[in-house]
Amino acid sequence: MVAEEKYAGQQTGHLPLATNHCSMAGFALITGASSGIGEKFARRFAARRENLILVARSRDKLLALAEELRREYGVAVEVFPADLSTPAAAQALARALGETHLEVETLVNNAGFGARGRFWELPLDRQREMFQLNVMAVVELTHRLLGPMIARRRGAVINVSSTAAFQPVPYTTLYAATKSFVTSFSMALAEAVINSTSFPSGWRRAPWSRAWPRECSKSDSLPKPLLSNGDWDNFCS
Ligand SMILES: NC(=O)c1ccc[n+]([C@@H]2O[C@H](COP(=O)([O-])OP(=O)(O)OC[C@H]3O[C@@H](n4cnc5c(N)ncnc54)[C@H](OP(=O)(O)O)[C@@H]3O)[C@@H](O)[C@H]2O)c1
Repeated sequence: MVAEEKYAGQQTGHLPLATNHCSMAGFALITGASSGIGEKFARRFAARRENLILVARSRDKLLALAEELRREYGVAVEVFPADLSTPAAAQALARALGETHLEVETLVNNAGFGARGRFWELPLDRQREMFQLNVMAVVELTHRLLGPMIARRRGAVINVSSTAAFQPVPYTTLYAATKSFVTSFSMALAEAVINSTSFPSGWRRAPWSRAWPRECSKSDSLPKPLLSNGDWDNFCS
């Protein structure tokens, strides 16, 4: 039975591995790699010749990106379709990773979205999904993957937060609170293990924010990275 069938009921699993990775260096796992900031991370990592594990719900987008990055940079890229807004998904993803024996050296917790509106009017189910994705998936993946990194004395965790983390934001009440959590969580971990950081992403017009008023958008471009390439080399060493 291929793992994809095994985990079908949990909406999480991996596609049959593209290559034999026994002798390969570690992988960077990026959640939300099918578009936006996560896709940018994937392209940057691939350009640095890092092997990748791509996670998001859109299997076809991930497969197309994986194929392109393998062809262009000669890196190994594996695809794990998963809906991380469901409670069992992060656990199923970690289990699927364990079965493939892929070593995650860098974890990028990027997948997330923001629901906008009056807190009491937004459907609770939608907000629960946002909380699960923005908070619980980050906690679970970090908890499962950080221990092995510490044991190997090598690895890094990047949690994509937001400038919304730094103050309460009316009409994105719970979103801002989830990002405050991500920043606080990351800063505490950084004190404890050195190599964990959060990335307070600035504004970029994401699909989930298209319904937001246009005047909120200052720029369509990515914010300047907090870490230069040199910093990043130190960060990962
Ligand atoms: N855009 C901004 O201005 C901005 C500002 C501050 C912080 N951020 C943060 O940056 C991160 C990325 O945002 P973005 O702007 O790049 O958004 P985006 O373009 O909408 O990309 C979001 C990514 O997350 C994936 N995703 C969404 N729901 C998911 C789920 N339930 N399970 C698994 N993957 C899921 C999406 O893929 P699928 O749809 O294929 O699942 C996509 O790959 C988020 O954490 C966001 O809060 C963004």
